[in-house]
Amino acid sequence: MAEPASRSSSAVSPAARGAGPERVRLGCRRAATPGEIAAHFVIRHQVFVAEQGLFAGQDRDAHDDDPATIHVVGTADGVVCGTVRFYPLTRKPGRWKGDRLAVLPGYRHHGLGAPLVRFAVRWAGAQGGQLMEAFIQPPNVSFFEWLGWHRVGGLVEYARIPHQRMLIALSADPPAPGRRGMRSQPARAASGS
Ligand SMILES: CC(C)(COP(=O)(O)OP(=O)(O)OC[C@H]1O[C@@H](n2cnc3c(N)ncnc32)[C@H](O)[C@@H]1OP(=O)(O)O)[C@@H](O)C(=O)NCCC(=O)NCCS
Repeated sequence: MAEPASRSSSAVSPAARGAGPERVRLGCRRAATPGEIAAHFVIRHQVFVAEQGLFAGQDRDAHDDDPATIHVVGTADGVVCGTVRFYPLTRKPGRWKGDRLAVLPGYRHHGLGAPLVRFAVRWAGAQGGQLMEAFIQPPNVSFFEWLGWHRVGGLVEYARIPHQRMLIALSADPPAPGRRGMRSQPARAASGS
């Protein structure tokens, strides 16, 4: 089980905005309880089905039933409002794939998306992974580049819209996080699943 990872942000929710620079505690952790797992799926549905229409009806797939898949929730002051999912690619040893990165609209641009991505990268690296790949919607490519990912090849179609394949090298001992960093390395990653 991962230790919760957290940092503070000066503002995060619509309620907090306009109410002054309150300190809001952000966190990322593996969804552990039935309630957290349910919340993870609700957020994905709200973002990828209802908001973006990327998937019709539901966005779950076989990876969600695979015990090797890590489902993560991101929180703001304890409210679950973000997700990411990642899993090893069994046909490519050392390779991991990340997807379903989402932050609910009212909580965006306050620093939760980046630590969710870093959480996945650090966890997979701690598991001995060498490379993580993701298919990124074009508006988010610069966000991932800012996080250290790089583009590979051109745009490819996924879920009926173009996506950019991107990669990042994984490390069992990543550099210490900088100003934007997140203490998100799983304390006992090897115990996962
Ligand atoms: C993509 C997403 C997860 C980002 O979440 P977020 O919580 O807004 O991200 P953060 O607040 O951590 O962003 C961190 C930094 O990156 C910047 N940033 C965010 N999105 C960016 C983008 N598309 N391009 C460049 N920079 C970006 C933010 O401004 C922030 O910088 P700052 O701290 O200096 O202000 C969120 O917008 C989302 O859920 N979108 C809908 C679902 C989606 O598109 N998922 C990804 C599919 S590939």
